[in-house]
Amino acid sequence: MNIQERLKDLELRNEKACEGGGSAKNEKHKIGGRLTARERLDVLLDPGSFVETDRFVTHRCNYFGLDKQKSPGDGVVTGYGRINGKVVFVYSQDFTVFGGSMSRTQANKIIKIMDMAIKAGSPIIGLNDSGGARIQEGVEALGGYADIFLRNTYASGVIPQISAIMGPCAGGAVYSPSITDFVFMVKDTSYMFVTGPDVIKTVTHEEVTKEQLGGATTHSTKSGVAHFAADSDKHCLLLIRELMNFVPGNNLDDPPMLPTKDKPDRLCESLNELIPDNPKKPYDMLKIIKEIVDEGYFLEIHQHYAQNIIVGFARFNGRSVGIVANQPQILAGCLNIEASRKAARFIRFCDSFNIPIVSLVDVPGFLPGTDQEYNGIITHGAKLLYAYAEATVPKITLITRKAYGGAYIVMGSKLLRSDVNLAYPSAEIAVMGADGAVNVIFRDKINKAQDPQLERANLTKDYEDKFSNPYISAELGYTDEVIEPAMTRHRIIDSLEMLKTKRESLPPKKHGNIPL
Ligand code: HXC
Repeated sequence: MNIQERLKDLELRNEKACEGGGSAKNEKHKIGGRLTARERLDVLLDPGSFVETDRFVTHRCNYFGLDKQKSPGDGVVTGYGRINGKVVFVYSQDFTVFGGSMSRTQANKIIKIMDMAIKAGSPIIGLNDSGGARIQEGVEALGGYADIFLRNTYASGVIPQISAIMGPCAGGAVYSPSITDFVFMVKDTSYMFVTGPDVIKTVTHEEVTKEQLGGATTHSTKSGVAHFAADSDKHCLLLIRELMNFVPGNNLDDPPMLPTKDKPDRLCESLNELIPDNPKKPYDMLKIIKEIVDEGYFLEIHQHYAQNIIVGFARFNGRSVGIVANQPQILAGCLNIEASRKAARFIRFCDSFNIPIVSLVDVPGFLPGTDQEYNGIITHGAKLLYAYAEATVPKITLITRKAYGGAYIVMGSKLLRSDVNLAYPSAEIAVMGADGAVNVIFRDKINKAQDPQLERANLTKDYEDKFSNPYISAELGYTDEVIEPAMTRHRIIDSLEMLKTKRESLPPKKHGNIPL
């Protein structure tokens, strides 16, 4: 062959590889607006930045006539590219080739780029669309999964790992995503389950649809497995691009700075009026967040799960931060099992990747009740406590209103080594609310009083006068400064600036034993 013939040969091979499972399967796949594996990478990555690896790799299985069914690339497109100029490693499973199922060869392609991502210190993004282990291959395919899980675990806390679920993902296909830092799903076209509806029916006789069992709504509202539920493939991929703006390439990098026109000393006058005088009246914590961050932009994570706590990314004067905030509008902002798990995992992500944590606190306590106790609120609440205590990134905490009891300690208190602790004049820092406190400590006195109702009211007022303010905490130095709400943005930015060179480390150890 001369060079022209060789180039033609290469062109034909490339064309064949890009066909995946062929045009009929591609057309079927695209029904309902789904994109192909390659189209997804086009949306995810900066135009023209994708470099493919292992395009011609094929499987080596000869069972069940598979030796006659080979497709270059073997059902996954792998390589690297850029998002807003930053290098990311990617893999995108192709459902048109054996249902995107995981063969030994497919696993080898994926672990090759995972290893490269770890060495290069760049994030890895997996676009998952797979029926699980390739059934015809048997145990070899299972071995491939084990190799991926191992690398997911090694990479955890070293490089950000992102998973998008973009089709039916069953069996082994769901475990790798669940080790990664953020899971995105697409409404109506993606599913995640360990065992599908048919197996469930056989084993437990329970009837459930794919959507009820493992659709995007289920996992973003009930189980919390998914952090984002996107409206379409394109929406999902654009959301991943947005998230990548807030995170660094690896644990030794700082998160990216984005210049802003929003002034660092902008006063937030509306906040002076936001907290209701009546402490039992709810207000929307999201309003505070959107008022204080750069250009009002907040990327909320787990938006529809455990809504009594809010977590997400925003910027202060261009600097990326993680925000954790109680939401008084839902369950009065109480901490429960789901909220504790949600916030703890988010805090650990921020701490792994040098992203400061800003906590906005209005918390009346842990949610009481048998349901919470029987399901282990003690252990799950301790996760949040552990995550805050362990985090060494800059920690800034602002108490807007209630901060009671154990929940006060947990939510980034000074005693857990928060760096800057601020409070509004409306803050109430106490062991519990005045009603509950008076019932416990003055029960006899109230019962013996001539007018128990009046006695209770007087004692409640006394307790409120003493503790329904931030000043005892300020006298003790647990609160560094009581600020006018309008100054919130200004003060947080000052604090972040002051803390940008913060260095703090934990005692040497193999790893801690977080109460899982
Ligand atoms: C080989 C597979 C496959 C698999 C799908 N296909 N899953 N081939 N191995 N695991 C093939 C189908 O045979 C079909 O081929 C094509 O992909 C499309 O699949 P359909 O069933 O037509 O698509 P759909 O109706 O959309 O259903 C998708 C699905 C279903 C829900 C994923 O295919 C399914 O239930 N697959 C099996 C899921 C499963 O049990 N996987 C094993 C899990 S065990 P043709 O040629 O007809 O187009 C596991 C263990 C790992 O993963 C544990 C590690 C810890």
